[in-house]
Amino acid sequence: MTTKPSAAPWADEPFKLITLPDGRADITNKEHSAVYCATQMAQVHNFMIRGLNAIIQQAPHIPTISDPNYNEQDVKDLMKYVQIWIEGMEKHHHVEEVCIFPEIEKFAGKPGLMDSPKHQHETFTPGLEKLLKYCKESSPENYRWSGQGGMEELINDFSDALITHLYAEIDIFLSLKTLESAGLKKCWEIGEKFSQSEGFVDMLYTTFPMVLGTADKTYEGGTPFPPVPFIMPYIVHYWFAAGNSVWRFNPCDFWGKPRPLQFTSKS
Ligand SMILES: [Fe+2]
Repeated sequence: MTTKPSAAPWADEPFKLITLPDGRADITNKEHSAVYCATQMAQVHNFMIRGLNAIIQQAPHIPTISDPNYNEQDVKDLMKYVQIWIEGMEKHHHVEEVCIFPEIEKFAGKPGLMDSPKHQHETFTPGLEKLLKYCKESSPENYRWSGQGGMEELINDFSDALITHLYAEIDIFLSLKTLESAGLKKCWEIGEKFSQSEGFVDMLYTTFPMVLGTADKTYEGGTPFPPVPFIMPYIVHYWFAAGNSVWRFNPCDFWGKPRPLQFTSKS
């Protein structure tokens, strides 16, 4: 359950957040690392869902060129926010495909074991790339939410397939209880190290502010995820994200506290 910051629509809709497996009553043998991996994955997927929901809730309220309240910076920030959201997600899927999935298959001795989530990636990647191109190449005065070629249409093109995948992958990880627990955990840790080794400096300006700003630490009664040093939100807030108006679109502050969305019907 989410602690909403106000009665207004927030980033827990329209797409429902994933219930964390380690808190689900229907899941047994919770000490198995498959549950740990599935829970970590669900946390990450919830960042993505909150990010998408924050975009869907706020983008329709950004004034377009014909509106007297039009502000080019608002549109530029929205485009950049969407771009960082997509690139973060593509990185996540890249880490899975080139490291986590192969490590699990190698450990299980079953080539093709993780083909299903890999194939699911293909169902939404073309739509994500179209939206990424739109964000990078279209000029702010052409921005619109509704209608043909608007952002809504581009998001609708992939969002259901993406959400289906984000849910399905949790079940796939839960099904890995057939593997030896410690060995599976090792595969996960190799993936974490691999993820942190790529483009770390750039991530401080993009992935970190996005992750911290979509990680609701009050979710389901409170969660310490992501496990970052206590100083990290301060560093991001006062240095790497400082003065960058893109982060107005985040649904939480950098300490994981939900906050009202900035662009709503009242803005
Ligand atoms: Fe994933």
